[in-house]
Amino acid sequence: MEFTVLHQQIKDQTDDALLHLLSLLPDHAPRLKAAMRHALLAGGKRMRPFLVHLVGNTLDIPRSDQLTIAMAIECIHAYSLVHDDLPAMDDDDLRRGQPTCHIAFDEATAILAGDALQTLAFTILCEHPMSESGSKKRAQLVSVLAKSSGYLGMCGGQAIDLASTGEAISIAELTRLHQLKTGALLCACVEMITLVSDTLEQHDRTTFIEFARVIGLAFQVQDDILDVEGSAELIGKPQGSDVAQGKNTFPALLGMEGAKKELAALYDSALQALDSLPYNTDYLAAFSELMVKRDH
Ligand code: IPE
Ligand code: IPE
Ligand code: MG
Ligand code: MG
Ligand code: MG
Repeated sequence: MEFTVLHQQIKDQTDDALLHLLSLLPDHAPRLKAAMRHALLAGGKRMRPFLVHLVGNTLDIPRSDQLTIAMAIECIHAYSLVHDDLPAMDDDDLRRGQPTCHIAFDEATAILAGDALQTLAFTILCEHPMSESGSKKRAQLVSVLAKSSGYLGMCGGQAIDLASTGEAISIAELTRLHQLKTGALLCACVEMITLVSDTLEQHDRTTFIEFARVIGLAFQVQDDILDVEGSAELIGKPQGSDVAQGKNTFPALLGMEGAKKELAALYDSALQALDSLPYNTDYLAAFSELMVKRDH
C-alpha cells in the first residue's frame, strides 16, 4: 500500500476508535467531555499511532494490540498539548488551526480535560481489547507509558523547558530537554509495541528503540525549525512563539543552518539504525523522512 494512503488509513482508524471511546462516556460532565473531544479530535497528524502501527506491522503484532497502544499514547499526547498551551505554560491561542482548549472552553476545563485524558490513557491500556499475548503485557505497558509521560519523561522535560526559558543553556542540556519533553513519548511508542512481541531479539529491540530515540529528537528539532520558518496557516499554531517567549530551541542555539545540519545528522543516524535491522524497514525510512521534512 502507498505510504500516504497507509498514513491516512491509520489516522482514520485512530480517530474513529477515539471518537467511539468518547461516545461511550456518560454525559454527567458535558463541557469536560466536549473539551476532551476538542483536544483529541481536532486534527492531529497521528504520528505516534503511525509509528506504533509501522513497527507493529513489521513485527506482525495483532491489530488490536497496535490500536490499544496507539490510542493510549495519543491520549497522553493530546493531554500534553492542552497543558502545554495553557497561560501558565506556553500561553498559545492556536493549535491545529483552531482555538486551543482553554480558549475554546476555559482554563479550568482545559486543566481537567488534560487530567481526564491522561487517566483515560491508562484505562485504555488496562481495558481495551488486546490479543491473549498482548493482554499479558498490560502491566508492563502501563509502566512504560507512566514513566515516559511523568517525571522521567515528558513532564520532566516540560519542567526543564519552563525553568530554562529566557536563560542560556548548553546544547547538551537542550538535547536532554527535547529528548524528555518530546522524545520520551515517541520512544514509548516503540518500547510499547516491541514489548508485545514474543519473538523479537533483544538486540534488535534495542536498535528499534535507538531509532525511536533519534527520530524523536529530530521531530522536536523540526518543530523548532517550523516555529521559525513555517507558516502559521500550515502548522496550525502561532509562528514565532518560541522566539517571542525566549525558548531554548535548536535554531536559537545553533542558528538555522546549524539546526538544519543537526537535523540532517539525526536523520542519517535514524536510517543507519534501520539499516542494521533484519526486517524490511522501507516504511520506517519513509516515516523518518516525513518526520524531518514535514511542513506542519
Ligand atoms: C506537537 O506534536 C508537539 C510536539 C511534541 C512537537 P505534533 O506535531 O505531533 O502535534 P499534532 O498531534 O500533529 O497536532
Ligand atoms: C512540545 O513542545 C512539548 C510537549 C510535550 C507538548 P512545544 O511547546 O514546542 O510544542 P508546540 O510547538 O507548542 O506544539
Ligand atoms: Mg512547550
Ligand atoms: Mg508549545
Ligand atoms: Mg514548538
